[in-house]
Amino acid sequence: MSVKAYIAPVVDSTAIFKEGLFNGKVLFCTGGGSGICKEMTRAVMRHGANAVILGRKIDRLTASAEELSKDTGKTCVGIQADVRQPKTLHDAVAKTIEKFGRIDFVICGAAGNFLAPISGLSENAFRTVIEIDTLGTYNTIKATLPHVRASKGSYIHVSATLHYKGTPYQAHVSAAKAAVDATSAVLAVEEGPHGVRSNVIAPGPIAGTEGMDRLGTKGKAGETAVTAMPAGRMGDVRDIANTAVFLFSDAAAFITGQVLVVDGGSEHLRTTQ
Ligand code: HXC
Repeated sequence: MSVKAYIAPVVDSTAIFKEGLFNGKVLFCTGGGSGICKEMTRAVMRHGANAVILGRKIDRLTASAEELSKDTGKTCVGIQADVRQPKTLHDAVAKTIEKFGRIDFVICGAAGNFLAPISGLSENAFRTVIEIDTLGTYNTIKATLPHVRASKGSYIHVSATLHYKGTPYQAHVSAAKAAVDATSAVLAVEEGPHGVRSNVIAPGPIAGTEGMDRLGTKGKAGETAVTAMPAGRMGDVRDIANTAVFLFSDAAAFITGQVLVVDGGSEHLRTTQ
C-alpha cells in the first residue's frame, strides 16, 4: 500500500491572525514592488497597516501600490529610491512621515543577485551586490531608526540560507547576507532597550520569485528538489508573508536578534547524491 506524501498547507495570515492586528501602523518596505517583499506588504496591510514601498522602477512601484491599496482597502504609496543612495532613503522617510506621521515596521528587502563564479565575478559586480544588500540595509536602518524608536517598532531583514554552506556561484550574495544577519543582531542588542526589535527571515526556495528564476531552478532540477523537500512542496510567498505578520506582532515580543529560517525543512536535508 502506497502512502500519499504529506504536503504542507498554504494559508493566508487572515485565517490565523485577527484582521485589525496592525490598525494605525505604518510599514516602510524596500524592495516592496515585487516578489516576497510585495507579499509581505500585502499581508501586513490586510491586518490594517498603511505602507510605503520603495524600489528603483517607478512604473512597477506605482502599479504594485495601486494593486495593494485596492486589494487591502488600506493606503500604499510607491516611492522611487535606491538603497545605495542614502539621500533617496532620507527623502522617502520624510515623505512617509509627511503622509502617515509614523513608521512602525521596516522590511529591509531590496536585494540583487545573479549566478557567477568568483573567477568570473568582477570587482564591481561583487561590490554592487554588497552595496545593494549590505550597505542598503545599513542605509535603510540609519534613515528610519529615529522613527522606529519613537514608535517602539520592529525591523525584518530578508536574508538567505546560501551562506550557511559554500554555495557555488553565490560568493557575492553569501558575503552580503552574512553581513545582513550580523547587522540585525547588533541592531537588536543596541536598540532593544529603546523598545526596537530586529529579526531576520531567511527564506528557502520560494516558487515564482525573481530570486529563484535567477538561480536557474526552473525545469527538471527544480522538480526533483521539490520531491525531496520535507514539507513536500516549494515555498510560497505567503509562507514568508505569514512569518512577517507573526514577527511584527506582539506574539513575537520576546523574539529579537534571531534568524528565522523559513524553508520547509530543506536546510536540514542531506541528499545522498
Ligand atoms: C556576472 C554580472 C551579472 C552576471 C551583472 N553583473 N550581472 N556579472 N554575471 N549575471 C555585473 C555587471 O557586469 C557589472 O560589473 C556589475 O555586476 C553591476 O551591474 P549593473 O547591471 O551595472 O548593476 P545594476 O544595474 O545596479 O544591477 C544590479 C544587479 C541586477 C544586482 C546586477 O541584477 C539587479 O538590479 N538586480 C535586482 C533584482 C534582483 O536581483 N532580484 C533578485 C534578488 S533575489 P562590471 O564589472 O561589468 O561593471 C535574492 C535572494 C537570494 O537576492 C537568495 C535566493 C535563494
